Amino acid sequence: QTILEAIEVGYRHFDTAALYQTEQPLGEAISDALRLGLIKSRDELFITSKLWCSDAHHDCVLPALKKTLKNLKLEYLDLYLIHWPVSVKPGEYELPVKKKDLVPIDLKSVWEAMEECQALGLTKSIGVSNFSCKKLETILSTAKIPPAVNQVEMNPMWQQKKLRKFCDEKGILIESYSPLGAKGTLWGTNRVMECELLKEIAQAKGKSLAQVCLRWAYEQGVCVLVKSFNKERMKQNLDIFDWKLSAEESRKISQLPQFKGFPAGEFVSDDGPYRSLEELWDGEI
Ligand code: A2P
Repeated sequence: QTILEAIEVGYRHFDTAALYQTEQPLGEAISDALRLGLIKSRDELFITSKLWCSDAHHDCVLPALKKTLKNLKLEYLDLYLIHWPVSVKPGEYELPVKKKDLVPIDLKSVWEAMEECQALGLTKSIGVSNFSCKKLETILSTAKIPPAVNQVEMNPMWQQKKLRKFCDEKGILIESYSPLGAKGTLWGTNRVMECELLKEIAQAKGKSLAQVCLRWAYEQGVCVLVKSFNKERMKQNLDIFDWKLSAEESRKISQLPQFKGFPAGEFVSDDGPYRSLEELWDGEI
């Protein structure tokens, strides 16, 4: 129902993942939207899904994508992402992962399998999520198809300036997840929605704090993935295109102190492939 409401309001890009267990309901909603005539053809939508860590092994990638497509009842994805630069032993689909199951990811061979998926036409494009500049460099050093996208946490409290500059130079589009800080979730933080500066700017402009965050991300030239189950907030979150932040407001936001909401310590272990957050993020934390 939420997806149908989002389509009615005007959303066309939906982001799911094998891990989220939202592929099936999204697929059902897409079928319903076609049946109800909310959209005329599947091509009007942009659908992203992600390869979970337990399938981040060369021979597991194609079967994982086929399962994702079956869940979604689709013939192709628009974008398929490696969810994390992490492999765990095959078979487990849960977060937190068991630390004893963490194994080093072979980026070269996993990326080759992603390229095969695109060559087969099962996805229009391929990319990654939660990758540092260094890990992107590793992929770029052998890739035949460079990643189209790096989907990462990005909001005014975690602006990703270094990564954005790198991705701009390489022609990799940044997608912002948790653009509002994902308040109240396992991976979220209250700092964004409680930021005094953002409150002041919102009040001065007669906009909501969420709209200020979304407009800010949009003005940075990134793709923004915002989530709401509430139709009024869905509408509000789309209403960011006929006004802008002043240079002074942007300057003040750019100086906010930085805090990563989701460091992802679950992927760090004393005897695993990443022994510290520094190693997982290659110092970009
Ligand atoms: P709800 O579904 O009740 O609207 P993020 O996109 O950073 O992951 O944040 C998602 C969270 O932010 C959800 O809890 C969502 O709750 C809430 N949210 C989405 N849009 C707004 C908005 N315009 N104002 C306040 N909270 C919002």
